[in-house]
Amino acid sequence: MTRQDPGRHRTRKHKEETAAAEGRPGNGSGAGAETAEGEVVLVLDFGGQYSQLIARRIRECGVFAEMLPHDTPIEEIRARRPAGLVLSGGPASVYEEGAPELRHELLELDVPVLGICYGMQAMARELGGRVEAAEQGEFGRTPLTLADGGGRLLAGLPRDQQCWMSHRDSVFEPPPGFSPLASSPGSPVAALESVERDLYGIQFHPEVVHTPYGTEILRRFLRDISGCAQTWTPGSVIDDQVERIRQQVGAAGVVCGLSGGVDSATAATLVYKAVGAQLTCVLVDHGLLRKSEAAKVVEAFRDHLGVPLVHVEAGKRFLDRLAGVTDPEAKRMIIGEEFVRVFEEEAERLPDVRFLVQGTLYSDVIESGGHAGAATIKSHHNVGGLPDDLELELVEPLRLLFKDEVRSLATELGLPESIVWRQPFPGPGLAIRIVGGEVTEERLDVLREADAILQEEVRAAGLYRELWQSFCVLPVVRSVGVQGDGRTYAYPIVIRAVTSDDAMTADWARLPYELLERVSSRIINEIADVNRVALDVSSKPPATIEWE
Ligand code: XMP
Repeated sequence: MTRQDPGRHRTRKHKEETAAAEGRPGNGSGAGAETAEGEVVLVLDFGGQYSQLIARRIRECGVFAEMLPHDTPIEEIRARRPAGLVLSGGPASVYEEGAPELRHELLELDVPVLGICYGMQAMARELGGRVEAAEQGEFGRTPLTLADGGGRLLAGLPRDQQCWMSHRDSVFEPPPGFSPLASSPGSPVAALESVERDLYGIQFHPEVVHTPYGTEILRRFLRDISGCAQTWTPGSVIDDQVERIRQQVGAAGVVCGLSGGVDSATAATLVYKAVGAQLTCVLVDHGLLRKSEAAKVVEAFRDHLGVPLVHVEAGKRFLDRLAGVTDPEAKRMIIGEEFVRVFEEEAERLPDVRFLVQGTLYSDVIESGGHAGAATIKSHHNVGGLPDDLELELVEPLRLLFKDEVRSLATELGLPESIVWRQPFPGPGLAIRIVGGEVTEERLDVLREADAILQEEVRAAGLYRELWQSFCVLPVVRSVGVQGDGRTYAYPIVIRAVTSDDAMTADWARLPYELLERVSSRIINEIADVNRVALDVSSKPPATIEWE
C-alpha cells in the first residue's frame, strides 16, 4: 500500500465511479448518498452565520437535518423527499444584485417551508410582499409581540416575548394570502404564514438560545406542520452505517489510524461492528503522547472491545529525527512525515488492505463545500493525520454527524469516558509544547509528568469537560529558585487552560486559585527539574492556544 505501488489498490479518484458502477452508495457522492434512511428536513443555506446551528437544533428535536447550499438542484432536493424545508438566514439584501436567489419551485414542492430571517424575506419578496431597508436594523435581544393569537406557527405562545434578531431589511407587507403573525419595533411583519400553501416565515432566529421559545417554534414546524415523528438520535445512524460499511468494504481489509481522540475511536468502533476482524487499527505511538495515553487506547480497543490493534512504539525513531530541531514548523513537518512512514509500513504488512477509516465530521464536510460528497481529509493541522494521496478508498462513517453527536454515539457504542470526552490534542503532541528548544527524552519526561498532574487535578476539580483544552508548556529556559537549603536552576512550567467552542477563538480559563495552588505545589514538589509554575492569561487572538 505504498504510494509507489499504485497498482495494488484502487485510488480515491476511482472510488465514486466504481461505487456508482456497482450500484451502491459511494459514501458521500451524488444525490442522496449522504442521506440517512428515513425522515429528513433540509436546511438550505443562504450564507447565514447560524445555518449549521439550525441543523443541529433540528436534530436535537429528534429529526435528522441536512444542510445544503441554497442552489442545490431541485431534482436533488426532491430526491431526498424532505419532510420540511428550512431557508436559512444570510448576509445579503434580497433586492441586491447578485443576492442568493430563492427559486420559486422550492415553494411549490408540496413540502412545508420555514423561512428564517433572509429566508423569510426572500420568500416574502418572491411571492409579492414588500421588503425594504428599515430605518434601523435590529441586532440582538428584541421584544416580539404576537398578533391575532400567533396563527398556526406561534399559537399559544406568550403574546409578549423576547427573540434574537440580526437584520437590516424588514418585511413591511406580507405577500397576498399571508397573515402577519408578530411584530417587533423594527419589523412590522416579524413572522408570517400561509397555512393554505404551507409556507411560514420568522424574522428572528429560533436556533439561538436567546430566543426562549425558539426550540418550541422549531418543534412545532417539525411535528405539527411537517408531521415528523421525531425519533432520530445520533445512535440511530448505527444500523444504517453498519450496512453501508459492509456494502462498501465487502471482504477486503480495512485499516484505521487511532489517535486516542473521539472521532477516530468512534469511526473505528462502527467499522469494527460492521466488518469485525477485517479491520485492524494502528496506533502510531510517536512517544509524544500524554502519560499513559497509548496504554489507555490499547486497553480500550484491544482488551475491552477486542479490536485487532497494532501498537507501534516508535518513540525512539521520532526522537532521533527530532534531534537538534528547534523550529516549530520543522518539528511538525518531521513528525508528520515520520508518522505517515510508520503507518504505511504497518499497513503494508496487513493482508489485502484496500480501505482507510477516517473520522471526518459533518462540519468538515460542510466547511470543505463537500455537500456533494467531495471526500476530504483535513489538510490544515493534519500532522498526525494521513496524506491525501494514500492509495486507499476512504470509509467515513461519521460524515453525517456533528461533534457532540459523535460523543453521544461513542457513549452508545460503549467507548470509555476517557475517550468520549477527551479534550483535543494536537497530532505533533508534546513536541510543540517544548518551546524554543530541542525535544529530548528528559524534557518530555518533565513535561509529561507536569501535564499528568494538571490533568489529574483539573479532573478532580470537576472542570475537565468545561475546558476546551488544558495542558502544560515547557519553555526551554532555566531560572533560579531556592529549595530546602539550596539554590536551584531549573525549568518553569506554564499552565495553559482555555475555553472555546471551536478553537478559532479562545479565552483563558479562570481556574480557581485553590486548584492553581495545588497544581503548582505538586508540580514543583514532585518534579525535580521544575522550580517555578506560571499561568498563561492570554486569549486567542492575539495569542494562539498552543505555544508553537
Ligand atoms: P492554535 O494553537 O492554532 O490551535 O490556536 C488551534 C487548535 O489546533 C490544535 N493544533 C494542532 N492540531 N496538529 C494538530 O493536529 C497541529 O500541528 C496543531 N497545532 C495546533 C490545537 O491544539 C488547538 O486545539
